[in-house]
Amino acid sequence: MKDIVWSGILSIGIDEIDEDHRKLVKIFNVLNHAVLENESLEYLAASLEELINCTVWHFSHEERLMLKYRYPDITEHKAEHRDLINSAQKLQKELLREEKAVADEHIVFLESWLTEHILTADGRLGAYLSQVM
Ligand SMILES: [Fe+2]
Repeated sequence: MKDIVWSGILSIGIDEIDEDHRKLVKIFNVLNHAVLENESLEYLAASLEELINCTVWHFSHEERLMLKYRYPDITEHKAEHRDLINSAQKLQKELLREEKAVADEHIVFLESWLTEHILTADGRLGAYLSQVM
């Protein structure tokens, strides 16, 4: 799997959110490299844990901004955040339980898990915040 390369297309036009997204992309790439280089299960689990923890923190950041600027679609957006965290934690638990390595298919899943949300829901949030911040 190729790394995610940060480009203007992923920018939602709000610097503080873009900064978080860049960080998430970096951690995703660390995990991707770990898979390519056949790192230990322990290292893979630690990288996935870092990606999930950083995402949880980032979602709180976005949700605080949504509250501050009274984003009308906050309920829907928060529900999407919950689903994303649940699906990543489900994958993590499965891997830990079966002591299975992160495979290509998991990386493909995590790649779209990360980029689709940025390109859709976060894009709409960015358009709103650009007008009110
Ligand atoms: Fe979001």
